[in-house]
Amino acid sequence: MTAATATKQVLLHRLEGLRQIPTIPAVLAPLLRYLRQPMEQLDVRRVTDLLAQDKSLATQCLQMANSPLFGRRQRVESIRAAVVSLGLRHVSDIAMTCCVLNLFPSDRTSMDPVVFWEHSLGCALVCRHLARKINYSDPAKAYLAGLLHDLGIIVNLWVLPNEFRTAWETAKAEGIPLDEAEQKSMGFTHCECGRLLAERWELPPDLIEVVTFHHCPQKSSNHGELVALVQLADLLCRMSGLNYGHVEERQVDLVEEAGFAVLAQHSTLVKELDWARLTFELDSYMDEVHSLVRAIYRT
Ligand SMILES: [Fe+2]
Ligand SMILES: [Fe+2]
Repeated sequence: MTAATATKQVLLHRLEGLRQIPTIPAVLAPLLRYLRQPMEQLDVRRVTDLLAQDKSLATQCLQMANSPLFGRRQRVESIRAAVVSLGLRHVSDIAMTCCVLNLFPSDRTSMDPVVFWEHSLGCALVCRHLARKINYSDPAKAYLAGLLHDLGIIVNLWVLPNEFRTAWETAKAEGIPLDEAEQKSMGFTHCECGRLLAERWELPPDLIEVVTFHHCPQKSSNHGELVALVQLADLLCRMSGLNYGHVEERQVDLVEEAGFAVLAQHSTLVKELDWARLTFELDSYMDEVHSLVRAIYRT
């Protein structure tokens, strides 16, 4: 057995324990369950009551609801008003965003929580935008998939802080993608750790595939379209400065990416899309994402 294989086994064993990882947030579980039901069966009151119980979560939700990123028309002062103004689905998306991003460890080990928030929120928004452009059947699912795709980074920060710091330093020093650096120094990536947590949380199978295969969408067996959407949204964010706080020194041609070929199998619109224009459109999100996350993180 090589040293790298032995290290990988030790780390994966530690990961399987996952003792330090927080359990799925109380609010997130019912929200995820709700979203599996038809909208007309959802209980607006129950959602607003749940959110109101957690004051800081409710404050964060309101800040997001009042951002142009979520289609605000007039200022809302309560969760209930936000539901009326934006719709339950949007408010659920916002609440889930806050729940997931609050899982970031509070002690700053390596990655700045702000850059992780920016990347995840940016990816969720870009993924939904791209989904609409290609007429994907469930843009809200695409948002959630973009939001959760890097769950494994949170796992790494909780369970393997020192090993992850080394990988993170390597990525920054060499200007390579984070997953490449993780593979190099730990023998596996945040995709494998993320899958363990996603399974433990009993996320739906499509989201588990997103977490597991978003850096290699060609390996996704049942949900290739969603996984490919996330891969391209992730790349678009990284190319536009919503990366993990480091610069990757490489040229990316989206048309050459595995996700492009996978998406093209599902939608003819993919090949007709003006990708240069899309990148330009997405620039308008970036400033909003920066200022929203910075405002929220100060609360
Ligand atoms: Fe990733
Ligand atoms: Fe990512």
